[in-house]
Amino acid sequence: MLSTDTSAKGKKLRIVVLVSGGGTNLQAVIDGVRENRITNTEIVGVISNNKNAYALTRAEENQIPHQCVSPKDYESREIFNGKLLGVVNAYEPDLVVLAGFLVVIPPAMIQKYENRMINIHPSLIPSFCGKGYYGLKVHEAALARGVKVVGATVHFVDEGTDTGPIILQKAVEVESGDTPEVLQRRVMEQAEWQILPRAIDLIANGKVKVDGNRTEILP
Ligand code: GAR
Repeated sequence: MLSTDTSAKGKKLRIVVLVSGGGTNLQAVIDGVRENRITNTEIVGVISNNKNAYALTRAEENQIPHQCVSPKDYESREIFNGKLLGVVNAYEPDLVVLAGFLVVIPPAMIQKYENRMINIHPSLIPSFCGKGYYGLKVHEAALARGVKVVGATVHFVDEGTDTGPIILQKAVEVESGDTPEVLQRRVMEQAEWQILPRAIDLIANGKVKVDGNRTEILP
């Protein structure tokens, strides 16, 4: 069983959510916890690299401790990386959730949170992922390629970009006349906001077993 299986110890899974923008995925997690679709879980903190992120307002409105750690406020990337890791560690999370966090994760953080950090990506990995594929760019590329099915993926974070063990995926159909914005919204509604809360619930209940670069979802 994973070290994230806090349910067996009668403890809630402590999660920290890292965000950069609107925070609709954060909202899906907040709603999931409140409506008991995510069980055994407590959101202990929200961290944004962008002080104007609406995600911080969502945290404030829901009385969740939150703060901004911006690379702009530090002399070098190394100093920012150390600060970010320190702030994350201070929340003593069992799981770190990247919910639209558009910052390169410091290597030391990847090591420390191996199999304890997940990311939501707006495509069916291994399509439209890796360097340069984030946010709207993913949907622009999918429409340019003319694929008929897109979707979203929740995966553990490893040293690569979008290469870690896949936990859940959900497919979404492309419709004629889709613009990147329309497609992005449909992928969020039909896939991201469903599989991110579901993945957290599975992890909080000890149902995700990692085996190399694959996961097994236990019954
Ligand atoms: C989401 O679509 C998420 O999948 C994507 O950024 C958006 C954030 O929206 N993440 C990536 O592209 C990561 N490579 P949100 O702030 O409303 O949740």
